[in-house]
Amino acid sequence: MRIVVGVGGGIAAYKACSLVRKFTETGHDVRVIPTESALQFVGKATFEALSGNPVHTGVFADVPEVPHVRIGQEADLVVIAPATADLMARAASGRADDLLTATLLTARCPVVFAPAMHTEMWEHPATVANVATLRAHGSTVMEPASGRLTGADTGPGRLPEPEEIFALASLLLERSDALPRDLEGRRVVVSAGGTREPLDPVRFLGNRSSGKQGYAMARVAAQRGAQVTLIAGNTIGLEPPAAVEVVHVTTAEQMGTAVDKHSAGADAVIMAAAVADFRPVNVAAAKIKKGAHEPNSIELTKNRDILAGLVQARRDGQLGGLAIVGFAAETGDEHGDVLTHARAKLARKGCDLLVVNAVGEGKAFEVDNNDGWLLGADGTEQALDHGSKALLASRVLDALGPLLR
Ligand code: CTP
Repeated sequence: MRIVVGVGGGIAAYKACSLVRKFTETGHDVRVIPTESALQFVGKATFEALSGNPVHTGVFADVPEVPHVRIGQEADLVVIAPATADLMARAASGRADDLLTATLLTARCPVVFAPAMHTEMWEHPATVANVATLRAHGSTVMEPASGRLTGADTGPGRLPEPEEIFALASLLLERSDALPRDLEGRRVVVSAGGTREPLDPVRFLGNRSSGKQGYAMARVAAQRGAQVTLIAGNTIGLEPPAAVEVVHVTTAEQMGTAVDKHSAGADAVIMAAAVADFRPVNVAAAKIKKGAHEPNSIELTKNRDILAGLVQARRDGQLGGLAIVGFAAETGDEHGDVLTHARAKLARKGCDLLVVNAVGEGKAFEVDNNDGWLLGADGTEQALDHGSKALLASRVLDALGPLLR
C-alpha cells in the first residue's frame, strides 16, 4: 500500500520516525511529507533514509511530476503524526500552502490525524472546532494520550504511541472506511488480560491471555468517542491505550470488585478478560519450601462468575440498560465443536453478545491477529473474518452500538 506520513512541527516529530519504520517493515511504500517547521525537529535525511523515498516540503520540487496532486491521489492512507494545532487549522480550512496540505486536499483515501499539542491548545475552542470540521470531512482525528507533555505540565495532548497510531491506521486500511464516532457520550468498561491466583508470595495459577484483544477493544472504543475504563489483569507489558483510564488488578476477586464498581452507570461492559474459574483455598504467607511438609495437591475453590453476576444484577434492575458482552475461548472436544460450546455458553451466561475465538495451535493467544464468531442473544451469528485484533474489536463495537439504550 502507498502510505503518506505527514509530519507537523512539534517535538513529537521524532516519534514519526518509529511510525515510518513500522510501515516500511510491514511492506508498505512510505512517502514522508514534513512541514517546514517539522524539519526544525527532525532532518530531511532521517526521513529519506527511513522511507527510502525523497522528502520535500514545498510544491516546487519535481514540478513536471506534479507531486502536490499525484501523491495525494495515489495514496491508500494518509497519517499525520504529530498533527499540531496549526496544521489541523490549515487542513480544516482547506489551505494548500505547502506539499502536505495540498496532498490532504487531493487525497480520497482514509486520513488519520494523531494530535500532539499542549492541553490548552487541544482544549481551545478553535482547535475543538477544527477537529469537528476534520471529522465532518471524513477524517479520523485520534484522541490524544494524557500524560507528561514537553516541560513539567501534564494533561491530554500527548501524541499517542507509534504502536497505537500504527494499529489504528492499519485498522482503517482493513475497514476501508472512517472510524465512526458513534460512542461519543458513552461509558464503556472493558476487562482484559488474565487473572493470577496466588499460591504463595512468589507463585500463582494463571493463564495464557496476553490482554491484546481487550486492549484493542478499549483502544478502538476510545477512538470511537467512548469514555473507557480498562480493568487490566496480567498482560504482556502492553502500553496503556490513549485516552483510556486503566485500573490494574491481579486476582479474579479484585477484577470482580473493579468491574462492579465501574459498571455502575456504564452503557456497556465488555468482559474480554480471562478470569480464573478457581483459586487456591490456602495462600501461604511465606514461600512454600521443599522439605518435610510438601503439598502434593492444591485445593481449589470456585471464583464467582463476574459476567453472570452482571447479567443477574441487570435482571434485578440494578444496572439499567447495561449492554453486556462476553468472550469465549473454546477448543472444541468430544462433546461438541467450538460453536456448539459457544452457543451453550451464550445461553448459560445470558449476555447480549458473545465473541467466540477458537484457541490452541497458535491461535488467539499472544498473537496480533484473530478471528471467530459473534453470537447475539437474538440468535444472530456472524463470522468475524481474520484480521487484526483492532478489526475484530471494531466489528464487535459495530454490533454493540445498536444495542445501547
Ligand atoms: N468470566 C467471568 N468470570 C469468571 C469466569 C469467566 O466474568 N469467573 C467471563 C469471561 O471474562 C468471559 C466469559 O465469562 O467473558 C466466558 O469465560 P469462560 O472462561 O470461557 O467461561 P466459563 O463459564 O468459565 O466456561 P468454561 O467452562 O468453558 O471455562
